[in-house]
Amino acid sequence: MKTEQALYRPTVCPDLAELSEQAARFFVDVARQAVGREGRFTVCLSGGSTPRSTYGLLVREPLRNAVSWRHVHIFWGDERCIPSDDPDNHYRMAWDLMLSKLPLPAENIHPVRGAASNPEGAAVEYEALLQSFFGLASHGIPSFDLIFLGMGADGHIASLFPGSAGLSESRRLVVSHYVSQLQATRLTLTLPVLNHARQIIFLVSGESKAPALRAVLQGGGTQEELPARLVRPVSGRVLWLIDEAAASGLEREP
Ligand code: 6PG
Repeated sequence: MKTEQALYRPTVCPDLAELSEQAARFFVDVARQAVGREGRFTVCLSGGSTPRSTYGLLVREPLRNAVSWRHVHIFWGDERCIPSDDPDNHYRMAWDLMLSKLPLPAENIHPVRGAASNPEGAAVEYEALLQSFFGLASHGIPSFDLIFLGMGADGHIASLFPGSAGLSESRRLVVSHYVSQLQATRLTLTLPVLNHARQIIFLVSGESKAPALRAVLQGGGTQEELPARLVRPVSGRVLWLIDEAAASGLEREP
């Protein structure tokens, strides 16, 4: 387990533009290290509005050319149970902004399939896909090289919301569950998978996130109230990239 200080010390960027630059450069660095070490890079993308400009930067030079895209494998940390041609679908968002513009082999893109019509079937299928891709033994847990996470104003991460059934899942890698706050079903990786990542990067922007961010980074709220507080990698690292607006509630050292 990491020390509290290492887990919760954020990097504060002046604005979303700088946050996105740093996030995109970080993606490139982690990708290069993983490809050099293992011959491939496995990354989980998130939905939400915050990573949009990061995804946009990765398709432009000089970053685009700094990544060996044919060695990159793209997964998703959660998905909305809506058709894949809906602009709010996470795969669709990443496809439009980034994946369609990169020299990525089609077989390296691993979206959640069928969540709109059969969320539970899609969760089971995505779990099987992870087990097969990572060559996992029964009850094995994959270690992604990098997982992108956003955080909601209520402290939710991926599609693990305060009070969600899936928060207490300890065996399954992927679940579908009803999220009462959204009155919708969502599909999400579970905490064991998030916590086995080699590296997690949180992107948090905007004043609406300030109270939850303060509670997560500096204490307050129960763990159930703040799913982000449950991200505690077994041996990996966490980078919090936040902007000044999101940081506005933090107590700063003089
Ligand atoms: C989604 C994500 C969710 C998101 C946060 C932050 O469904 O959009 O799964 O976890 O990352 O809600 O979203 P923003 O980046 O839009 O603030």
